[in-house]
Amino acid sequence: MTNVDTPTNVEAKAEPILDQTQASADDVNGTQQYLAPVVLAMQALAVDGKQAHWHIRGENFIAVHELLDKLVDHAREYADLAAERTVALGLPVDARLATIAAKNPLPALKDGFQNYGPMIQQVVAQLDAAIAVVRRAVEGLDDIDLSSQDVVIGIERGLVEDRWFLAAHLATD
Ligand SMILES: [Fe+2]
Repeated sequence: MTNVDTPTNVEAKAEPILDQTQASADDVNGTQQYLAPVVLAMQALAVDGKQAHWHIRGENFIAVHELLDKLVDHAREYADLAAERTVALGLPVDARLATIAAKNPLPALKDGFQNYGPMIQQVVAQLDAAIAVVRRAVEGLDDIDLSSQDVVIGIERGLVEDRWFLAAHLATD
């Protein structure tokens, strides 16, 4: 008599995705659909955040220069969270440089040195675009995967705080 519960037979029957997540393939693919744009937006924000960090100048230089480095650190951390949630569900992430460039949802940053006011305005506009991507993921994941939604809710909270810290430098009263 054959023992159908031997590890060899179980492994042969299992589908890798279902085996890892206990979720339906549709739900896993739906999760990837919402997390992928978050990964790309965060990677793009990290690259342009460094560009801004290097080229900002004028009044408040040190404060904003250092704040932009924190923004970069956060964007990298958030990209990692969204990417590794996707991979943990058994699916790959395409965050190659060419893919990021082709699908970058952020408005372009101007080239060269810039005074802190215009530079902050551009980075805040990029944060707004990134927050919109993350909020779409929060809404979309509500019916699909609550753990993934929890990941993007945390990212949204962090980005909004970074936006506040940067935008506060633009206040005139
Ligand atoms: Fe630096």
